[in-house]
Amino acid sequence: MKVLVTGGTNGMGKGVAKVLAGSDNQIHEIIILCRSEERGKATIKELEASTKNNKISLILCDLTKLSDVQKAIKEIHSQHDFLDGLFINAGLGYAPERVETEDGMDSHFQVNYLSQFMLTLNLLDLLEKSENGGRVIFNVTEGGEIFWDDMQMKKKWGYESGIHQAMVAKRMFCDRLHNYYRNNEGSGLSFIGFQIAKTVWSNQINIIPLPMKIMATVMKIFGTFISIEECGMIMSPLFTENQEESLKRSGKFITWKKNKFTEIAQDNSVYDKKMQDKLWNISLDLCKDKKTTQIAEKFI
Ligand SMILES: NC(=O)c1ccc[n+]([C@@H]2O[C@H](COP(=O)([O-])OP(=O)(O)OC[C@H]3O[C@@H](n4cnc5c(N)ncnc54)[C@H](OP(=O)(O)O)[C@@H]3O)[C@@H](O)[C@H]2O)c1
Repeated sequence: MKVLVTGGTNGMGKGVAKVLAGSDNQIHEIIILCRSEERGKATIKELEASTKNNKISLILCDLTKLSDVQKAIKEIHSQHDFLDGLFINAGLGYAPERVETEDGMDSHFQVNYLSQFMLTLNLLDLLEKSENGGRVIFNVTEGGEIFWDDMQMKKKWGYESGIHQAMVAKRMFCDRLHNYYRNNEGSGLSFIGFQIAKTVWSNQINIIPLPMKIMATVMKIFGTFISIEECGMIMSPLFTENQEESLKRSGKFITWKKNKFTEIAQDNSVYDKKMQDKLWNISLDLCKDKKTTQIAEKFI
């Protein structure tokens, strides 16, 4: 399988990249999309040494910049004829204050959702060329809401509500893509929302303020956390299972409990077609990208 992982330099993305790289006799090819060349190269070095897989490459892209996303899309197309999997994972977590991107958006909204909305739409053609059943796995969580009147959170900001808003947006996007592909015969792509059941001991621990770090360390002793490798072990079958299995999960919001994937009920608002359309149109307007708009036309 050839899998592109956004945010593969740390946390859950790195865990998935590492487990995939080391499994099935190192047959899988991993593309890590990341913002820092230094961290990207160091990650490749580390994963090559631990997995003996030499099919790991980088695509540089800072998701706070739509111009970078456009460049990355071109670069991926120039280097790859197909993709089997896409892990929509990169995300900002804790932040002490609201940061506006150079595109004028809230950074959580842009990094965790919008830039990856644009990336996904532009990589569907490569996923359609997969001979193994292209799939997009969205790293999502339950809850949250879209702040329709203040999506960029200028009036009221909080890093947690920013993260959760992006999660709902990703789940709505996942459902919309699933419905389009199911309603169009001959399509073999699947779109799955996955929520990790236990908190992953990710790079977030290095970013959060000291009191939160102390609390997390205490919770770790009680087994509240799992390692990035454990996370990778849980998630990797979603990228390697065959097309038939993957298609059965398409459109579902799942987690891993009692040693199996189980479905989680979605809030009804996620399935609301009018709201999905509204979000879709706002997202396209914000992307301000001709190619993305053209691709999106087939989904109307
Ligand atoms: N940890 C959990 O238990 C948990 C649970 C549920 C959901 N999640 C979600 O999982 C995702 C990953 O979180 P994590 O906990 O694994 O966090 P993490 O260790 O901080 O990893 C985040 C990844 O996203 C990348 N990233 C951040 N900003 C970026 C940007 N502007 N451009 C490109 N890449 C960027 C980071 O790159 P750098 O290495 O350069 O920082 C890193 O590789 C997030 O969406 C989070 O909300 C996490």
